[in-house]
Amino acid sequence: MKIIDGKVHRFAEIVVYGCQMNVSDAERMEGQLETIGYERTENREEADLILLNTCCVRETAEDKVYGKIGEIKHLKEKNPALIFGITGCMAQKEGDALIARAPHIDFVLGTNKVHELTRVVREIEAERGHIVDTSFGETELPKQDAPIAREGTLSAWVPIMYGCNNFCTYCIVPYVRGRERSRAPQDVVREVEQAVQQGYKEVTLLGQNVNSYGKVNGKPGETDFADLLAMVDAVPGIERVRFMTSHPKDLSDKLIETIARGKHLCEHIHLPVQYGSNRMLKAMNRVYTVESYKALVGRIRAAIPDVALTTDLIVGFPGETDEDFEEMLDFLREIRYDSAYTFLYSKRSGTPAANMEGQVPESVKKERLNALMAVQNEISLAINEKLRGTEQEVLVEGPSKHDAAVWQGRTRQNKLVLFPHTDEAPGDFRRIRITHPQTWVLKGEVLRP
Ligand code: SAH
Ligand code: SF4
Ligand code: F3S
Repeated sequence: MKIIDGKVHRFAEIVVYGCQMNVSDAERMEGQLETIGYERTENREEADLILLNTCCVRETAEDKVYGKIGEIKHLKEKNPALIFGITGCMAQKEGDALIARAPHIDFVLGTNKVHELTRVVREIEAERGHIVDTSFGETELPKQDAPIAREGTLSAWVPIMYGCNNFCTYCIVPYVRGRERSRAPQDVVREVEQAVQQGYKEVTLLGQNVNSYGKVNGKPGETDFADLLAMVDAVPGIERVRFMTSHPKDLSDKLIETIARGKHLCEHIHLPVQYGSNRMLKAMNRVYTVESYKALVGRIRAAIPDVALTTDLIVGFPGETDEDFEEMLDFLREIRYDSAYTFLYSKRSGTPAANMEGQVPESVKKERLNALMAVQNEISLAINEKLRGTEQEVLVEGPSKHDAAVWQGRTRQNKLVLFPHTDEAPGDFRRIRITHPQTWVLKGEVLRP
């Protein structure tokens, strides 16, 4: 708290872990905090309120949060008025246990209670004590007209659905995010329209499995994901539309056609395969096979020739053999993803895989991860190499991290482009010739009209 010109200022810091869904939730939490007078700060020392919006998808994610909870204890000793809350997936998973372990936490709020934040903060302000709320109505949606303090100025995250029904055997998400439920199409479109009015050029529609959008009790509803994409594509003034994540089991031909025909729908599909052998896919409960996945990719590439495909891969799932792993490398060489996020399998208690036989030793997992990354990096570089000399439409973001004279932007395929800055402003679209493609970035120069 600071008093500036006789006026009280309160500051809040929200630390975000995990996926884009958590980023999006944090934007809504910050929007609410603004309505009760909190301003954003990155300076933890001056914060009156600290929130950790947590992730529990892998053990490493949880370890980071426990480390941070420990650090904040010292701040709280110095400033007992500090309010400290835990939100997000770990809050949902651990509930009371967090406060038992670290009593300097004031409140724990579950993933479906984002819109209760101001009430809870007010209650703690008025009367100190602990509050834990991880209750969950199965069909409950977060409040639709809640204020949003977006982190970016060009690109807006727009959640279209919450939860997951897939229960992949390694994954904790369905347990901490509940069952699938979709926002009404008009609520999504209204949010996109508002973002455009505020100057956003790009939206990314978010869901754990966007292909299930609109289903009611597992059955198709009136508006499916392809319909929704077409509606968002038609919002006047929108320049680019992205979405994630797509589950391969139900990416429909209608959706492929919609993307192919779409005007602002970007040529990039994040299509996590998780593994490249049928034995592992079955054990993971992914429901598709290597063959059906390859056929799907064939249909996507036939309809959208310049599409970029990216994926997620897990190594070290229980029972994985050298043969499975070799099969996955061959699979990668055949599919040729533009890039891949690679993860070491992490045991999550409460999920079926945690009790499976044949847990893989850490050292073997790490070896395989390195081998996997080496194969994928070679492929990524070879694909990017083909872009040498081409012209790409780039949405200019601003200065790059390491050099203010070098700016960055992204192609429609979502590839990062670095270029010497001349007169571009954030939000401009420029034609850029790629001169030096690399594994992770494309370097180029702006073409003068
Ligand atoms: N709903 C999305 C992604 C959710 S989590 C999807 O299905 O694609 C993001 C990624 O984390 C997953 O794609 C998976 O690759 C990885 N992941 C999930 N659980 C994991 C675990 N227990 N260990 C390692 N990686 C995991
Ligand atoms: Fe997890 Fe599978 Fe659901 Fe993705 S689809 S969130 S990996 S259970
Ligand atoms: Fe993590 Fe929850 Fe996202 S567990 S990956 S923050 S849905």
